[in-house]
Amino acid sequence: STIYILNGPNLNLLGKRQPEIYGRETLDDVADLCRDVAGGHEIKLLQSNWEGQIVDWIHEAREKAAGIVINPAALTHTSVAVLDALNTFDGPVIEVHISQIHKREAFRHHSYVSLRADGVIAGLGIEGYAAAVRRIVSLLGRG
Ligand code: DQA
Repeated sequence: STIYILNGPNLNLLGKRQPEIYGRETLDDVADLCRDVAGGHEIKLLQSNWEGQIVDWIHEAREKAAGIVINPAALTHTSVAVLDALNTFDGPVIEVHISQIHKREAFRHHSYVSLRADGVIAGLGIEGYAAAVRRIVSLLGRG
């Protein structure tokens, strides 16, 4: 089965954007890391700067994915639409933040997505994505 790795606004610039906060590794490195720990599962990594595209991919995941890893980026803190979409998805959902959001500005401390997420990871850098995939694999079973 397939695990979707969804990424929100500005994460296309991962590696170039505020590297002191988000590191120098890119989304391609994230995809490699996720594939290394995916067992028999397929990884589909997607990124958009558009809230509606993220919502559409979550709807697509209802048919095509067994689990979702999501870094909603800034939409974490603003988007009831992303939360509502995730609430239509039956499989495991793990929320990932590269930075330790609780150590940052107060507006980053609240997450709408956490109301749905089965697990939340923050501050582990891009290793957080691998930890999230491992958790989904263990929840789904191999293959
Ligand atoms: C982020 C944290 C968010 O607050 C921020 O808006 C991002 C990235 C992270 O991965 O640390 O764009 O989700």
